[in-house]
Amino acid sequence: MKNKILQELISQQGAYISGESLAEKCNVSRTAIWKQINALKKDGYIIETANRRGYLLKENDDMLLPAEIQANLNTSEIGKKIIHFQSIDSTNTYAKEIAEKMPSGTIIVSEEQLGGKGRMGKDWTSPKGEGIWMSVILKPHIPPEEGSKLTQIAAAAVCEGIRSITGLNALIKWPNDVVVGGRKVCGILTEMVAEINQIHYLIVGPGINVNNSRFDESLSNIATSLYLEKGEKIHRKKLLCEIINKFDQLYNDFITEGTLKKSIDICRMNSALIGREIIIHQGGKKIKAKALDITEDGLLEVIYEDGSKSKIISGEVSI
Ligand code: BTN
Repeated sequence: MKNKILQELISQQGAYISGESLAEKCNVSRTAIWKQINALKKDGYIIETANRRGYLLKENDDMLLPAEIQANLNTSEIGKKIIHFQSIDSTNTYAKEIAEKMPSGTIIVSEEQLGGKGRMGKDWTSPKGEGIWMSVILKPHIPPEEGSKLTQIAAAAVCEGIRSITGLNALIKWPNDVVVGGRKVCGILTEMVAEINQIHYLIVGPGINVNNSRFDESLSNIATSLYLEKGEKIHRKKLLCEIINKFDQLYNDFITEGTLKKSIDICRMNSALIGREIIIHQGGKKIKAKALDITEDGLLEVIYEDGSKSKIISGEVSI
């Protein structure tokens, strides 16, 4: 019933709806409506109450509330279900706990993470209300060795979303990062649970530094936020909706057409690596190379100092 009331409030588009009218539409008493309105307020929804006029839903710009996000989505799979937390240890960890019983496309988003996880066992700082800390559960029918392609699709979606909402020159540092001015604004942690020839599910978890105003000394050389780069606060919800809509389009394209072309075009066009001297970190070694291209399959093509070429599937690269 709470959801039905929320949908009714949203459909009023900023106008009041009386308690009586809500009670009629939901077929319950006005007291029951009042109780559910209080429950919605507890969830973070801002609902004004006025004598005789009833209830009015105001947008909460400080939170990433599911119904307000969904009102701006035009997706076919991603974001049909969104679970929101004020605080959680890690959205990826939670997504893994519930993935088996959740539909593909379910999103977990939290205002803060107390134990945010980065790649290679690192921590990911996720302060309250400042970033987009989310995980998407996906269940594509593709072989496990293609799982990493989902990271490229997500990176393309995040990069395009940032460019269109902020106008910043966001670039993709293959395979998992988005950078602005050479410093990282987004990292993606993709985790997969699979058998030898079948994916059970993938968790694609981007962490985006949106309105962070400072970073610890240890991070300030390598990390930045969209706010620090742009010099003005960024509307997190608008950015998130743009990214989810783009992610859904690119993901669908991959699933239905079987090609990564659109995502790879974005990754190539906005690559932070192509044409540059890079260092590849492999098995404890640092190998110098030049990045040549990103292939149709999402591999990084490089040329080594001895002139030999190779295509890298995944790994750490620095500039
Ligand atoms: C990286 O090391 O670059 C990847 C960072 C990924 C952070 C995000 S925040 C949302 C999701 N939940 C996590 O615990 N990690 C990812």
